Amino acid sequence: MMWYRDTPFVLGGAPQAHLKVQGLSAGYGAFLVLRDLHLDVRPGLTVVLGPNGAGKTTLLKALNGLIRRQGVVTLDGQDLPEKTDRIVKAGVALVAEGRQLFPQMTVLENLELGGWLCPKAERARRLEQAFVDFPKLRDRAQQLAGTMSGGEQQMVAVARAMMSSPGLLMLYEPSLGLAPRMVDELLGIARRIADSGTTVLMVEQNVKKALAVADRGYVLERGALVASGPAKLLARSTVVREAYLGAATAPSTPVSPTAARATAAV
Ligand SMILES: Nc1ncnc2c1ncn2[C@@H]1O[C@H](COP(=O)(O)OP(=O)(O)OP(=O)(O)O)[C@@H](O)[C@H]1O
Ligand SMILES: [Mg+2]
Repeated sequence: MMWYRDTPFVLGGAPQAHLKVQGLSAGYGAFLVLRDLHLDVRPGLTVVLGPNGAGKTTLLKALNGLIRRQGVVTLDGQDLPEKTDRIVKAGVALVAEGRQLFPQMTVLENLELGGWLCPKAERARRLEQAFVDFPKLRDRAQQLAGTMSGGEQQMVAVARAMMSSPGLLMLYEPSLGLAPRMVDELLGIARRIADSGTTVLMVEQNVKKALAVADRGYVLERGALVASGPAKLLARSTVVREAYLGAATAPSTPVSPTAARATAAV
């Protein structure tokens, strides 16, 4: 049995959420990591790729109010709030690094926490839907989250995020540290969620697999975008490879004309 059912997901909030990021800058104290980023996160599945230190974590932190940001960020035309709790209320859910489950609580309790904003009856309804979308979690409802494998915990983290019925789901490296089969399932889930109407913004290191399931992609390098476009085109471009090899071998390599063209072509 797969971790998710092979039919459209039930959970999800206002469909077709659209996040627009214009001139986003953010960093730590005086150290600016992200400089003047422009992202158009349309309904569907958007992936942000980039080598270590590119600023992927910083981007998700800035969008979720965990660090201060400059620039204009709108969700469906409304300014995205600055504070995390208000961002959540605006319909944004984040599956952050390390999953952040409560290890001493059961799967069921962790899932319920994902629906803390909604009334009890609605929470129960969503819980039932979570068990429909993620059937294996029903069998594991009473297991302590901390005793699950990494991949299983990632499933719980995604299901918990979906319990808030988000319009926009942000996923931080869902495949990190997982076996290939589990990676496929997680990326399959991300795709399924996007197909069901919840917009997904995913950060991933697994370039090949991420681009295979995504609609669009951005490549971030040293805090700036060096390429963007339809996932199929990015997968074929040399830009993606350059971004990674560039980081591994020659950090000072300037953005190539190829990369500049790829960005301009979007
Ligand atoms: N709390 C912090 N204080 C100061 N600098 C930070 C802090 N967190 C990250 N940085 C710096 O910001 C830059 C971007 O880091 P970030 O974690 O966003 O990259 P990343 O793309 O997520 O990398 P990785 O793939 O390794 O997770 C790095 O130079 C990093 O050293
Ligand atoms: Mg990171």
